[in-house]
Amino acid sequence: MSFDLNILHGSKEGITDEESLVQFSYIEKATGYVKNLEKELGRRPTACVVTFGCQMNAKDSEKLVGILETIGYESVESEDADFVIYNTCTVRDNADQRVLGRLGYVKSLHKKRPWMKTALCGCMMQEKGAVEKIQKSYRFVNLIFGTHNLYKFAELLCRMFESDRMIIDIWDKTDRIVEQLPISRKYKFKSGVNIMFGCNNFCTYCIVPYVRGRERSRTPKDIIREVEELSKDGVKEVMLLGQNVDSYGIGLSDEDKITFPELLEEVCKVEGIERVRFMTPHPKDMSEDLIDTIARNPKVARHIHLPLQSGSTEILKRMNRRYTKESYLKLVELIREKLPDAALTTDIIIGFPGETDKDVDETIDVVRKAGFDNAFTFIYSKRTGTPAAGFEDQVSEADAKRNFDRLLKVVQETARAQSGKLEGKTERVLVEGINEQDSNLVTGRMSNNTLVHFPGDESLIGEFVDVKLDKCHGFYYTGSIV
Ligand code: SAH
Ligand code: SF4
Ligand code: F3S
Repeated sequence: MSFDLNILHGSKEGITDEESLVQFSYIEKATGYVKNLEKELGRRPTACVVTFGCQMNAKDSEKLVGILETIGYESVESEDADFVIYNTCTVRDNADQRVLGRLGYVKSLHKKRPWMKTALCGCMMQEKGAVEKIQKSYRFVNLIFGTHNLYKFAELLCRMFESDRMIIDIWDKTDRIVEQLPISRKYKFKSGVNIMFGCNNFCTYCIVPYVRGRERSRTPKDIIREVEELSKDGVKEVMLLGQNVDSYGIGLSDEDKITFPELLEEVCKVEGIERVRFMTPHPKDMSEDLIDTIARNPKVARHIHLPLQSGSTEILKRMNRRYTKESYLKLVELIREKLPDAALTTDIIIGFPGETDKDVDETIDVVRKAGFDNAFTFIYSKRTGTPAAGFEDQVSEADAKRNFDRLLKVVQETARAQSGKLEGKTERVLVEGINEQDSNLVTGRMSNNTLVHFPGDESLIGEFVDVKLDKCHGFYYTGSIV
């Protein structure tokens, strides 16, 4: 286990943040409760954190596991545990449905084990309707909290242990960022790093600004300190996380204020960090300065994920994306010119209210012209409370499905056309693990995010090696260490 900053295995040493100190006293208290449970069970209690959604949620889950391990739980993968925590996502309806499906299963476990506890947190819990549904239909749930008070997890756990009733604590908003709490990273060699929280863009289809609140940036000092600590702890690759990284800096004081390209450059300077990724830039704000900064810094991964959402200027306007088909394509041209070896990927929504076949033709045209290496395609999901949910011209499921299939075909075509470009070349690869199908192989990730499988063993995990890309198999390569 490792900790943010100088926190050594759950000790308060070196902590200056007042709220963190408060939380550490709850950590001590909660440790007592877990010890009692351990005595009762005659073994160490287990906890399982199940994560839905994006990289932000994955990072939040590492914070939850950090607290759970500090107070004495053994962290396990299986939901057949003494404590299960669902960190939820609500970006599309199917994310909600998956959580509710899991809860049905956990209910049967609760019946068998009266000491078992279940908690729900994350984006879906920021929606009133979702919480009401759980209160009504899933009475066995012990604790519900949201995205803004996750830093109070230890305190909430104490309340949960002290009560037989369902504890619900959801905040509408926060302007706080609490640093200096335990964290348990999933990977030793790579880590996400929050640079900002929330979103101010209010794309008309999107629930994120409502469930994650207004944009708040961490100070450059805190970010760099975390990256330095991660590097000391053996991390070689970091991913800077935010919903709109190129607007980084909002809310910072004048003395702290730096731009995203400046921050990127500073992160690249941290010794021991060999690769830097970021997610997600917004096409309306992506500057030439950022592209130049990437070009100048070989440590920055050659992978740009630039969500398109739609290729129709009319639909983009109704989505409140604040760019046009033409300006997006111009940006792509600039990226292709200045970063010729970068992979370009995107997100696209099909079936947004009012979208016609002609609009989808425009989207397909952009896919062809941009030649994406990959695209994540989603069917529009109506989110209660967003402006688009109230638009009158909702698209029928059949039309959306038909256009989705049409789009997917072209996405696959362009992805195929891009793949294989690197065959025969040698690339620097970060080894992530043993190959799932063949234990004589390891799997690594290239700068452009493509996977490569090659002969190797466990000792290579977390190392950068040079790999010759012998053969392309569509979305991945096979190769050999040079
Ligand atoms: N901040 C990022 C992405 C956040 S959500 C951005 O601005 O692009 C990740 C992806 O989910 C989005 O890019 C979008 O394609 C998709 N998405 C968001 N809301 C959706 C909805 N209501 N229906 C379908 N897809 C949605
Ligand atoms: Fe959602 Fe738009 Fe914000 Fe991305 S930029 S999180 S799509 S509102
Ligand atoms: Fe989902 Fe929340 Fe991320 S809604 S996509 S987990 S910010």
